[in-house]
Amino acid sequence: MSTCLTDKIRNEIKEVLVTSDKMKERVKEIGSLISKDYDGKKLLLIGVLKGSVVFFADLIREINIPIEMDFISVSSYGAGSTSSGVVTLKKDVGCDVSGKHVLIVEDIIDTGFTLKYIKDLFQARNTKSVAICCALDKPTRRDKEINIKVDYAGFQIPDEFVVGYGLDYAERYRNLPDVCVLSPEIYSQ
Ligand code: IMP
Ligand code: MG
Repeated sequence: MSTCLTDKIRNEIKEVLVTSDKMKERVKEIGSLISKDYDGKKLLLIGVLKGSVVFFADLIREINIPIEMDFISVSSYGAGSTSSGVVTLKKDVGCDVSGKHVLIVEDIIDTGFTLKYIKDLFQARNTKSVAICCALDKPTRRDKEINIKVDYAGFQIPDEFVVGYGLDYAERYRNLPDVCVLSPEIYSQ
């Protein structure tokens, strides 16, 4: 685990699932794949606020072709840490997406409701293509109604609620450099 964490935060972490070094290596690989796949194409990366910001900032610096970037914000209503499937748009992109290849950049795909909603939204806007790039994927959690392809994934992880590397629990822990599993006591407080 990163040495810059305070003892207080360290005590709240049960386990480190993906270290920042491992993530850095993987982001390099994904960046070069994206650079090859979209060479000569108009690529627009759309980050999903707020969870994707750390991954987004790392990823764009590993892409060596011209890109545009924008951000959206959505909310999934549901109890606790589970998505209900009802997704609403809180902030749209500010640019014209027509004729562009859109790559949605997200922190994690869980049930898949959120990314399905976002993908459908941009596919309906005269885009050339819409693909998905996630730092983390929990494949065993995917809703059986959702059939969605994750085009680029950092790591597949088990069914555990994770924080760090941009991901939060009640808006905390986004600044942890590693992807971590929280201690169970945190949820029962
Ligand atoms: P989905 O719609 O169920 O795929 O949920 C996706 C959203 O739920 C992600 O964008 C995250 O904001 C949140 N989420 C899902 N799993 C986790 C997790 O383990 N930690 C933090 N946020 C999560
Ligand atoms: Mg999210």
